[in-house]
Amino acid sequence: MENLTPKEIVAHLDRYVIGQNDAKRTIAVALRNRYRRMQLPEEMQRDVTPKNILMIGSTGVGKTEIARRLAHLMKLPFIKVEASKYTEVGFVGRDVESMIRDLAATALQLVREEESKRIENEIEAYVADKIVEKLLPPLPAGASEEKKADYEASYARMKERYEKGELDTLKIKVHMPLKPDLPEEGLSPQLIQVQESIVKVLGGGKKGPEKEVSVAEAKKILRTEASETLLDEESLKEKAKEKVEKGGIVFLDEIDKIAVSSDSHSRQDPSKEGVQRDLLPIVEGSTVATKLGRVKTDHILFIAAGAFHLSKPSDLIPELQGRFPLRVELESLSEETLYRILTEPKHSLVKQYQALLAVEGVSLQFEESSLKAVARYAYLANEKTEDIGARRLHTVMEKLLEEIAFEADEHRGETIVIDEATVRERIGDVVEDEDKTRYIL
Ligand SMILES: Nc1ncnc2c1ncn2[C@@H]1O[C@H](COP(=O)(O)OP(=O)(O)OP(=O)(O)O)[C@@H](O)[C@H]1O
Ligand SMILES: [Mg+2]
Repeated sequence: MENLTPKEIVAHLDRYVIGQNDAKRTIAVALRNRYRRMQLPEEMQRDVTPKNILMIGSTGVGKTEIARRLAHLMKLPFIKVEASKYTEVGFVGRDVESMIRDLAATALQLVREEESKRIENEIEAYVADKIVEKLLPPLPAGASEEKKADYEASYARMKERYEKGELDTLKIKVHMPLKPDLPEEGLSPQLIQVQESIVKVLGGGKKGPEKEVSVAEAKKILRTEASETLLDEESLKEKAKEKVEKGGIVFLDEIDKIAVSSDSHSRQDPSKEGVQRDLLPIVEGSTVATKLGRVKTDHILFIAAGAFHLSKPSDLIPELQGRFPLRVELESLSEETLYRILTEPKHSLVKQYQALLAVEGVSLQFEESSLKAVARYAYLANEKTEDIGARRLHTVMEKLLEEIAFEADEHRGETIVIDEATVRERIGDVVEDEDKTRYIL
């Protein structure tokens, strides 16, 4: 997965995000370059730093959507953060370095899942043994050979029934996993370590209180216990650290919200520029203490995105601008694109509504002309009032289907066809009247 070609990455994104080809290509190339870099001699690798990307496009055109889909596709540590939630060091709030700590935590989780998958068979065997043992009366110490053979026979029989799932509803007692339910958000890594060791000391090991649960549930609980027992935490951390340093991606959303617009003299938050300054070393490459140890950020890829309505990229401090050399603009959405967004993606809005109503036993059908009309009205509403991009489709579809959604239970077993006239009737009036549009769509 990590070495998909740019074409493959774009092809995958195409299934979910319509248009915006420039943005897709740029990101795909940036990701591929990381793979290319890994093939270089080590000495050269150090000098090839990633080229960070700045995505510019008005609201609702797919900036976040591209990032979200990418995260699913690449089995790489990925986090999306809002730049506006950070405050300068010294101000109350989250400091900028915490994004790297969050990324490290994501990587650890990712590696844990991968490794658990790799030793899946071992884990299942561990779980089966534990459960079958609990279901059989224990073999007393010093039992005769005959008793032992008996025990083994019933063990085998029990295991067979276990594997067939015949025991799933039986109740057994298991130790609940001992997980600190304390938040790690915002804690410094030192504090997290203290917290972890306190939990260890108080818990005196890994076992939590005993609880009676069904075998089916015990399987899930014991799987966690198994992977904790069978996997070595230290080597997981080491792998995760390497993964973050070489493959981590930080998506910095709403970067325009920390730009200080030059031509607006309204109230300005003095900490905005501070946040930008705090970002500099992290984007450039520095070391951040995390629970995986000290993580170097040199090769982490940063993708920043913003609408830049009220500010321009040039309102960011020059040092930060320079650290995002790749610029891509996302186009605003045409009527045609809106139509495609409505129908083409794997879980497009139309398919979502159809699936939701199918739960009520209602089959919802759209004539093509009606969907064209939805796209046209959405486009008009964007033109006449604010351009909120594809999100307009949500408001239009909600309005169009509000009655049906409410009365669905009365139409069980029926097929409801939405034709163009229906769309015109429900939406047309609203779009004609600008004031209504402002309030309703
Ligand atoms: N090009 C597109 N293809 C498919 N769906 C899209 C596209 N653009 C937007 N959408 C849909 O519109 C919604 C909003 O898009 P998204 O969250 O990507 O907006 P954004 O560009 O990040 O806007 P903002 O600047 O407000 O954060 C999502 O539900 C997404 O599915
Ligand atoms: Mg967004």
